[in-house]
Amino acid sequence: MAIRLGDEAPNFTADTTEGKIDFHQWLGDGWGVLFSHPKDYTPVCTTELGRVANLKQEFEKRKVKVIALSVDSVDDHNGWISDINETQGCTVNYPIIADPDKKVAQLYDMIHPNALDNLTVRSVFIIGPDKKVKLTLTYPASTGRNFDELLRVIDSLQLTANYQVATPVDWKHGEDCVVVPAIKTEDIPAKFPKGHKVIKPYLRTTPQPNL
Ligand code: BEZ
Repeated sequence: MAIRLGDEAPNFTADTTEGKIDFHQWLGDGWGVLFSHPKDYTPVCTTELGRVANLKQEFEKRKVKVIALSVDSVDDHNGWISDINETQGCTVNYPIIADPDKKVAQLYDMIHPNALDNLTVRSVFIIGPDKKVKLTLTYPASTGRNFDELLRVIDSLQLTANYQVATPVDWKHGEDCVVVPAIKTEDIPAKFPKGHKVIKPYLRTTPQPNL
């Protein structure tokens, strides 16, 4: 069944390139990103995994753990990691789940047979500290994802979780945020001492609160 926003991220155990994991235990009480790849030794996937390795510090800064999945074995993954490191100028520094029986792929509805027969599409799940799914994203095999966009979404999700703000169209770190509708305009000054603008009664902005 499809996984929807707000659902609990299904738990599973699986072999990975860093040993066997219980997914919920591996997540602990922090944020996580689970992202799937159609197959080992494929070109677009190779570039994506390299990019994530090179962005590891950015994920760590946000206290987010990352884990990849591909429907091949740990042995295949380990051989492929050598190629990724060699060609992408990186050291793969996060686990890749081995899913040769497609147990996890099916649990997370990552196989879309009308798009790609028997392989996973490019799925992403961002999971909050409460183990609830905060974002789902599905890309076709032929299009590499934009991991800067994922970091931008994580920044937005973490702001909403901590400060009762949302982020407007094309928002980037450092730009003004939107005060969530649940807050009355008269209550804004106490909650957002950096200031605010009332553009319409339902559209109120404030400087990014955590800077
Ligand atoms: C790739 O990762 O390059 C890829 C995988 C499956 C189909 C098309 C491209």
